[in-house]
Amino acid sequence: MTTSIACSACLAKCGEDARATESVPWDRIRSAEARSRGKALFVQNCVLCHGEHADGRGVRSIGLDRKPADFSNAQWNSPAGAARAYHAIREGVAGSPMPSWSSLSEAESWDLVAYLVSVSTQGP
Ligand code: HEC
Repeated sequence: MTTSIACSACLAKCGEDARATESVPWDRIRSAEARSRGKALFVQNCVLCHGEHADGRGVRSIGLDRKPADFSNAQWNSPAGAARAYHAIREGVAGSPMPSWSSLSEAESWDLVAYLVSVSTQGP
């Protein structure tokens, strides 16, 4: 793991901590079922800012002071990238328009991560 993927919002929890990446359910993230559930959740909740191609170019991204993350980037395709995405979904990103999604279950959050990781390898 390199410092370039360390998450400023949750560094203490996931940044350089190998234990956080060990708890990433990688088999689930790789499953087609999780990906398709995650895609549905993404369309419902995230497209507005992150865009229908998950490239950070949603209609609401215009004028935001922080650009929504672009998931076409290969950095998300690793246990560390997945852990970082999961914590951002659960807790939001402090000081940014990215909200926390505590209304979603932990399972739904991993399904979303499955979709985001798949976007970085297969596209939307
Ligand atoms: C209101 C707009 C908005 C919505 C809706 C939104 N996001 Fe974001 N998201 C952002 C912005 C802006 C950032 C960039 C945060 C930063 O780097 O400061 C971001 C960043 C992220 C990141 C990367 C965090 C990191 O550590 O770099 C993930 C993962 C993410 N969003 C997932 C989601 C998911 C999944 C949803 C839907 C459940 C969602 N977002 C909905 C605005 C939004």
